[in-house]
Amino acid sequence: MKVGIEDICFYTASYYLDLQVLAEVHQIDVEKFYAGIGQEQMSMAAPDEDIVTMAAAAALPVVEGQDKSAIRTLLFASESGIDQSKSAGVYVHRLLELDPACRVVELKQACYSATSAIQMACALVARQPQQKVLVIASDIARYDLDSSGEPTQGCGAVAMLISADPKIMEVEPVSGLYTEDVMDFWRPNYRGTALVDGKYSTKVYLKSLKHAWLDYQQQGGHAFSEFNYFCYHQPFTRMAQKAHSHLLKQVGASLSAAEAEAQIADTLSYNRSIGNSYTASIYIGLTSLLENAEHDLAGQRVGFFSYGSGCVAELFSGVVQPGYQAHLHKDYHQTLLARRQSVDYATYRRLYDYPNPVDGGEHAIAAETTGPFRLAAISQHKRIYEKTAS
Ligand code: CAA
Repeated sequence: MKVGIEDICFYTASYYLDLQVLAEVHQIDVEKFYAGIGQEQMSMAAPDEDIVTMAAAAALPVVEGQDKSAIRTLLFASESGIDQSKSAGVYVHRLLELDPACRVVELKQACYSATSAIQMACALVARQPQQKVLVIASDIARYDLDSSGEPTQGCGAVAMLISADPKIMEVEPVSGLYTEDVMDFWRPNYRGTALVDGKYSTKVYLKSLKHAWLDYQQQGGHAFSEFNYFCYHQPFTRMAQKAHSHLLKQVGASLSAAEAEAQIADTLSYNRSIGNSYTASIYIGLTSLLENAEHDLAGQRVGFFSYGSGCVAELFSGVVQPGYQAHLHKDYHQTLLARRQSVDYATYRRLYDYPNPVDGGEHAIAAETTGPFRLAAISQHKRIYEKTAS
């Protein structure tokens, strides 16, 4: 029995900052961002957008037309949770009008947890193939102003329906794993922005790739030559290029520079504009590959390297299914990216500094999002979500 991704759709916020603006403010050459870290823009959430509204917007096209009673599990993966207790997935469950006979839970391990959600979902489906699992990853990546991490912010959500009818991609069973207790990137409960040891984090990322690949081989995984494409976690797109070079060296592959780049290039397009979306970024990368590749990818094997600081990493593979093109949401994604509004530095600061009230008062939030759901108010410590007219 094949198990894997039946449907996949992403969403990002209504605004974006071109990194040219940040380069001018910081008086540095914009090529450091465009070429050095491989980012052109970063999505910025409007005050009435958050991980819940983005998650619900990503999942809406996935659940429309589905028999909702078959979706008996919703796994919500996030680093940027909005509540220490209640799962953000429960709000999403209501906004999507899912069946009450459904288990909902939130998973956290920095940028990795969506991958564990997919693996858990595959296991559930293998046990009861008539059931489907909705996996949603949603994050807002925030670093301190004027820090080296500032140009690697962004936000986005991706929704995947995992089932025994994987119209997009079969997830193969072997995984390579690596966990190590390190402090490369973390966010204590009292902080809204991440703490990061930037250079160290890239080193741990590469070390984790090496160990995950070794474990993958030990577990009986495919040889490097059996892969056609690789999709990496993309905190910034240059990181994926560095990772792929690292893997090529490790396996002793003799590919030309062009052949190596061709294995990852199409996974990078959307993330160059969206920025880091933590848990969602690797699967936005998959969407980018599926929707931007010039050739039919049916039967092609994709390697995934998922990394979450702290750290946990997993390497696994998937095989693209015949006819997958008919099930993509390419127009939805391209319209979404095209209609985002560019902001100037003053607006970026207004969005960045937008207050997060903690006094339990009544805080209505003006309508700004162009998406289908919004955070309308924070009232008596409760987040109030609603559908918009769009
Ligand atoms: N033209 C072209 N390239 C230029 C340039 C110019 N004018 N100026 C500089 N560059 C190049 C540099 O040579 C460098 O290239 P290499 O990496 O190939 O050497 C690149 O631009 C970046 O320059 P710096 O190393 O000077 O950049 P920095 O120190 O200011 O910051 C960073 C880079 C450490 C990644 C920082 O953005 C950061 O801390 N980001 C957040 C942490 C992060 O994303 N870590 C990734 C691993 S952790 C993870 O994956 C989890 C997660 O999502 C956070």
